[in-house]
Amino acid sequence: MSSRKMLIAGNWKMNGLQKDGVELATAVAKAVNEVENPKCEFLVCPPMTLITSVVNAVEGSKVAVGSQDCHFNVKGAHTGDTSPVMIKDAGCEYAIVGHSERRTDYKESNELICKKSEAAYEAGLKAVICIGETEAERDAGKTVEVCKEQILGSVPANATAENTVIAYEPVWAIGTGKTPTPADVQEVHAEIRKVVAEKLGTEIASKMRILYGGSVKPSNAADFLPLEDVDGALIGGASLKVEDFMGIAKVCL
Ligand code: PGA
Repeated sequence: MSSRKMLIAGNWKMNGLQKDGVELATAVAKAVNEVENPKCEFLVCPPMTLITSVVNAVEGSKVAVGSQDCHFNVKGAHTGDTSPVMIKDAGCEYAIVGHSERRTDYKESNELICKKSEAAYEAGLKAVICIGETEAERDAGKTVEVCKEQILGSVPANATAENTVIAYEPVWAIGTGKTPTPADVQEVHAEIRKVVAEKLGTEIASKMRILYGGSVKPSNAADFLPLEDVDGALIGGASLKVEDFMGIAKVCL
């Protein structure tokens, strides 16, 4: 058994008005509070407009809150962006960076993701750094190569097991209902840990959490969460319903 504490993280993406966000966060906090000595940690990442309400709704519970992105600057003339200092100030503990939807929609590069992660650390946030190959890259047998390049380029040199979580999310598995086999997931996670060890040392690599993400549901969570190098899940669609989110968490409770 590893000493790594599992992390069950919900990425709400661009979903939810105030009422929905407060209801969902309240329900998650209540469900988590009903678990005695949970063996995993919980995180919800609402859209920026809901952060304050969600922070208030989960106050006093074991549910942490994170943003879905952050800028790499502390403040200034960056219309539409949110600084990691503001995110921390709003009550967040984490920031997701480099999600494939941002890599695709905003052409975010590894270099930019690295700067965002460094800025998140500087603000006192933990970074959930996302990596993962596209379907074409997988078909070309380049999964490990792509993940390696993304880790080397987007994980800062001062990353630690405390300030960083890596989320492996094959792009073709996100929101599609398709998933890699458990054997594939374990193999890629083990390779990711090897690359982290090359970059940051074996001590940090052995403690760093690597989440799997991509169509995780209550019905398949037991295929992935018990794998040796899987330390939790980053959940999109299924994090929008408390039953599904907790149904996934149940596997590691
Ligand atoms: P999904 O999304 O669970 O809806 O596939 C995962 C993610 O993008 O983080």
